[in-house]
Amino acid sequence: MQKNVVLGVTGGIACYKSCEIVSSLVKLGINVDVIMTKNATEFVAPLTFETLSHRPVVTDTFDRNHPWEVGHVSLAKKADLFVIAPATANIIGKIACGIADDMLSTTVMATKSKVLLVPAMNTAMYENEAVQQNIAVLKKRGFLFIEPVSGRLACGDVGKGKMAEPKDIVDEIVRQLNFKKDLKGKKILITGGSTSQPLDGVRCLTNYSSGKMSCELAKNAADRGADVLLVMGGHSCELPENIKIKLVGTTDEMFAAVSENINDFDAFVMAAAPCDYKTKDQIKNKLKGKAITLELVKNVDIAQYVGENKNDKQVLVAFAAETENLKNNALSKLKSKNADFIVANDVTKEGAGFNYETNIVTIIDKNEHSVDYPLMSKAELANLIIDKIFGDKK
Ligand SMILES: Cc1cc2nc3c(=O)[nH]c(=O)nc-3n(C[C@H](O)[C@H](O)[C@H](O)COP(=O)(O)O)c2cc1C
Repeated sequence: MQKNVVLGVTGGIACYKSCEIVSSLVKLGINVDVIMTKNATEFVAPLTFETLSHRPVVTDTFDRNHPWEVGHVSLAKKADLFVIAPATANIIGKIACGIADDMLSTTVMATKSKVLLVPAMNTAMYENEAVQQNIAVLKKRGFLFIEPVSGRLACGDVGKGKMAEPKDIVDEIVRQLNFKKDLKGKKILITGGSTSQPLDGVRCLTNYSSGKMSCELAKNAADRGADVLLVMGGHSCELPENIKIKLVGTTDEMFAAVSENINDFDAFVMAAAPCDYKTKDQIKNKLKGKAITLELVKNVDIAQYVGENKNDKQVLVAFAAETENLKNNALSKLKSKNADFIVANDVTKEGAGFNYETNIVTIIDKNEHSVDYPLMSKAELANLIIDKIFGDKK
C-alpha cells in the first residue's frame, strides 16, 4: 500500500538535513511531496528536493503550473502524515495562531492527517516564552513533536535547539505511518537473540546477537496491528512492551517454542542466532585441566524445520549473518530452509550486524532475485521486511 508523506521545509540551517529525510523515505518506497517556504529556498534549492523525491516541489500557493486542481487542498488530502522539518519558530507560531499566508501554512491548515513538527532553532529562540506557549498549544491540539537535541548550533551557541537526527525522524515517520493497523488479523512469530548451550557446570557456548533486529520487527508488526509472538533468547537490548514474549535459553527450548504452534501463524521471521552446536555429553561439573577436547554435535535446525513443515500460504523469512561469500552462502541457505526470502548481511562490514543500530543487507527471494540495500536503521529494515512479507498477502 503506497504511503504518502507531505514534508514541509521552512527557513532554517537544518534544511540541508531534510534532504536526507526525503532520500531515506523514498528508498523505503514512501511517496514524498515537498512544500518549501519561500525562505527555505534561500537555504536549499527546490531542485535538490525535486531530484530526491522525483516530484515537483511546491512553494507558491498561486502557481498554476502544477497539475492539481487546488494545490493546497489536494496535497492536504493526500497526506497520510504531514511532517514539517525543520520547523521554524515562525511556522510554529503561524500554525498555533491559525495564520495561512503561504502554501505550507495553508496546506497544513487544510489537512486532516496527523502533523509531526520537528523544531530547530537557536536555544534562546527555542526557550522564548512565545515559542514554548505555541508548542504547548499545539501539543494540546494533538500535534506531534520531535524535540530538538542539545549540541553546538550553527550560530556557535551551545544548547538545546538542534534538529533531531534524520535517522530518528525517519524512524518516527515510519512508526506513525504504521499506526494505520494494516496488519490486523495477521499472526507473526519472530525469533531473536542468541541461544546458549551449557559447556560444563559454569560455562556456556553462545554468540554476540543483541536481539535488536527482532525487537524492531516485533514492534513494527505489533504497531501495525499484527498479533506477534517474540521467541527471545539472550539479548542486550530493551524488550518491547505490550508484546507476547517467550524467553528461552537453549536451541532446543527455542525449537520447542517455535514448533509448538506452527499452524497458528501467517509468517515466521527467524532473526535469532541459535547455537548450531551443543556438547555431545552433558558435563555437570566445572571442567579443569590444561587442555580439553570437547565433542560438539549439531543442534536442531529451527528454520529448516519451519520450512519443511509450513504450508504454501505461510511465509518464512530467514537471516544469514555471513563473514564471506555473502550471496552464495545466503542463496544456499535460502534453498536448504525452503524460505520465501532471506535477509543476508556481511557482519564484517562497519555498520552491519550484531551490536549496531544499523544494517547493510541484501535480500534474495526464492526466484533468486537479489536486491542490495544501503545502510539503514534496524527500524527501517524491519519496516521493509514486514512490508515485503505482507505486501502481496493483505
Ligand atoms: C542564516 C539563518 C538561519 C536561520 N535559522 C533559523 C532556524 O534554525 N530556526 C528558526 O526558527 N529560524 C531561523 N532563521 C530565521 C527564519 O529564517 C525566519 O524567521 C523566517 O521568517 C522563517 O520563515 P519560514 O518559517 O516561512 O521559513 C534563520 C535565518 C537566517 C538568516
